Amino acid sequence: MEDKWSRLRLLITGASGLYGSKLANLAEKNGHKVFSVYNQHQAAFGRPVRLEISDKEQVQKIFEEVAPEVVVHAATLTDVDKCELNKELAWKTNVEGTENIARATKTENAFLMYISTDYVFNGETGQYKETDSPDPINYYGLTKLRAEEQVKTITNEYCITRTSVIYGATPAAGKINFALWLLNNLKKGEKVKALIDQWNSPTLNTNLARMSLEIIERRLTGTFHLSGATRISRYDFARMVAQTFNVEASAIIPTAAKEFSWVARPLARRKPRRYWKINHSQLNVRCKK
Ligand SMILES: NC(=O)c1ccc[n+]([C@@H]2O[C@H](COP(=O)([O-])OP(=O)(O)OC[C@H]3O[C@@H](n4cnc5c(N)ncnc54)[C@H](OP(=O)(O)O)[C@@H]3O)[C@@H](O)[C@H]2O)c1
Repeated sequence: MEDKWSRLRLLITGASGLYGSKLANLAEKNGHKVFSVYNQHQAAFGRPVRLEISDKEQVQKIFEEVAPEVVVHAATLTDVDKCELNKELAWKTNVEGTENIARATKTENAFLMYISTDYVFNGETGQYKETDSPDPINYYGLTKLRAEEQVKTITNEYCITRTSVIYGATPAAGKINFALWLLNNLKKGEKVKALIDQWNSPTLNTNLARMSLEIIERRLTGTFHLSGATRISRYDFARMVAQTFNVEASAIIPTAAKEFSWVARPLARRKPRRYWKINHSQLNVRCKK
């Protein structure tokens, strides 16, 4: 017998990106009808739909045509430095774009999953719970928090998922992620600086996509922190990636954050206060409550 939630009409924004492309790929394999919204780089999976999310009329028109049951909104100006330098564009894309998506989702009576970030926090303590108070320290984080507020205000049925440092096996949206960049450089014999005093929870795009699918298929509402299970410094993560792919790690140079010049303030300078995990099985446990 066919599952109640199978064959959703699923619209994914940011479907040409690192996360959205993986989600579109897995969602199609799960039997859903996937509409993949992109802007500059055509989406590889699902039915490609070109859309500028800051254009309200265009958003409404596409949503009327597609009539989605579920929307995953991942399209964002993700370049944190660009957000700092071009605040107008960051606000237009991340906040107004999300407002447009949220309004159109409500009109279609669809379920909205908004993909947010650990950058809504200041990074001082780390291991944030869903109940901790946000306190963004750069413009990207501020726009993502304001976008979360738009989602909560406008839509009836939503879920906000916050994640951390996504990585994956293939380039997406015209760029490579930290893990691929690192491997490329090490293979070319180049030295790579990696931070010893910035900790986060790197998240494989496949795992994030699987967790997201579980949420949308079960229509779970609320805020979820979905990330990799391990809190690790950039330096240790870089060494782990190199070892996993059998690449010489001696060219990874341990570097303190103060040795870099930053445009947007970075997160998490302090050492972890404790070890804390979120993973797929924990999501299952929590969801049974
Ligand atoms: N990457 C991370 O480490 C990380 C960490 C925490 C949270 N997140 C969140 O996770 C989500 C996905 O991130 P990602 O790294 O997968 O993104 P990404 O690879 O940088 O891709 C960004 C996506 O947004 C689309 N986009 C940007 N501006 C747009 C516009 N004006 N109209 C329509 N589409 C637009 C891009 O489309 P085109 O390329 O086709 O133009 C692309 O598909 C984002 O919400 C981000 O805030 C990411």
